[in-house]
Amino acid sequence: MSTEQTFIAIKPDGVQRGLVGPIISRFESRGYKLVAIKLMTASKEHLENHYSDLAGKPFFPGLIAYMGSGPICAMVWEGREVVKMGRAMLGATNPLASAPGTIRGDYCIDVGRNICHGSDSVDAAKKEIALWFKPEEVQSWKPAQFDWVY
Ligand code: TYD
Repeated sequence: MSTEQTFIAIKPDGVQRGLVGPIISRFESRGYKLVAIKLMTASKEHLENHYSDLAGKPFFPGLIAYMGSGPICAMVWEGREVVKMGRAMLGATNPLASAPGTIRGDYCIDVGRNICHGSDSVDAAKKEIALWFKPEEVQSWKPAQFDWVY
């Protein structure tokens, strides 16, 4: 069975709007496993590294400023096809093109304030997890047998 992992981040606007809980809840309810989480205000260098493939885009400076404007909730989620399903759960990059029922489709309307990030491939996920987390910050765990429930 696959133990695929993906990097999901709740951007500063998502944290400030109180959407950490609802977003985590969607991944938990779907059956995915949280294996790493932290709040982090990322440096300009860190964010330029994260978004290095977008360096030439006109929206790049604004994107870096927005992403560095407050704490980000950085997470690693694990489970079957979680990279592809994570992207589907987030919705399209432009929230106005995101179907209702997706995270962006339910919670935002502005591409420059689209509240969440998800890795777009298994390779990208590996790179992003290594950028945002030390190996020891990513937990390997299994549910117990619930033998404390009587
Ligand atoms: P991108 O990697 O293309 O999308 P995604 O986050 O869905 O993988 O773009 C990164 C972020 O850049 C995107 O989430 C929001 C921002 N962005 C803009 O502000 N304007 C734009 O026109 C685009 C395409 C992206």
